[in-house]
Amino acid sequence: MQVNLTQAIHYLQQGEVVAIPTETVYGLAADVNNEAALNKIFAVKQRPANNPLIIHIASMHQVTDYAAEFPPLAKKLAETFWPGPLTLVLKSKPHVSAIVRADAPTVALRVPAHPLTLQLLTESGLALAAPSANRYTQLSPTLAAHVEASLGHDIPVLDGGACQVGIESTIVSVEGDHWQLLRHGMISAAQIVAIAGKPALVTTGEIPKAPGQHLLHYSPNTPTCLFQETEALMGYAKTHPDCAVLLIGDVSPSFVNGLKALTSHCVQLAQSPIKVAEQLYKVLHQLDELKAPAILILLPPSNPEWAAILDRLTRAGYRAPV
Ligand code: TXA
Ligand code: MG
Repeated sequence: MQVNLTQAIHYLQQGEVVAIPTETVYGLAADVNNEAALNKIFAVKQRPANNPLIIHIASMHQVTDYAAEFPPLAKKLAETFWPGPLTLVLKSKPHVSAIVRADAPTVALRVPAHPLTLQLLTESGLALAAPSANRYTQLSPTLAAHVEASLGHDIPVLDGGACQVGIESTIVSVEGDHWQLLRHGMISAAQIVAIAGKPALVTTGEIPKAPGQHLLHYSPNTPTCLFQETEALMGYAKTHPDCAVLLIGDVSPSFVNGLKALTSHCVQLAQSPIKVAEQLYKVLHQLDELKAPAILILLPPSNPEWAAILDRLTRAGYRAPV
């Protein structure tokens, strides 16, 4: 159900959830100070309660409403990248609802770079907890139509057009003058290093992660199979020509033409990582709708500039083809 800005504010103030546009993906928003509304997010998404939510705020001046500390390093990152696709995980103030934090001692905050949502945050005076507006483990939405396809027509949606970044924000935790990367995104680790002036804190033991990043995540319904080598993909496609194919990165025109002749659906995303990120979920949604027996994906090269895209594809491709 499409709503305008005034209606969206009204619903949020009444304790309802509203899908809102951001530059990364659409979020399913609720007033961060209304626990009944927060519970609706988890119910609508069928999301487990142990997976915390990001709080969206209008400006960095609101950080200390929720975070107990705003260390200079975090401030520097916020000044550089906000509004934008960076989430900061900081020590939480005690009053922040345990539902948002999933009982963690930290809180995740970001100022999104979408004019309509910035206007919504400013005019409503609310801070909005919002995970991506899709059912748990499914593909994230980058169009209002994706939200309706995943969550149904009863959810109010503020249509802000296609998301420009296209994949979820980079998540960085900051404690004192140390930082760690919790989720890859289009703001790269190298960009964080450049601003922080030092590499991420190296800890012994387990690599820290944002909770809830299960392997089966960001997945189409269609079984998805990942290939690193063109020959292996071609070999599989020859015996399974009814599969859909997504080629990412630079491959020879003769290879693409060979696959196009062989399979019914073959899409190539050959541009820069930035362009591919913008298109990725939209193309995966389209390929998913074909209901082919499987989606075969040729992965981009394993280098840092493709890290965020490789991360999402690796999760999408957790299920082997039937
Ligand atoms: O780009 C984005 O980040 C989008 C838009 C809507 O802002 N949101 C998004 O939300 O991707 P979601 O819920 O799909 O992913 C949020 C991630 C989860 O993996 C969660 O574990 C992590 O943020 N997170 C939230 N609070 C955290 C905390 N206190 N500590 C560590 N990770 C946290
Ligand atoms: Mg999500």
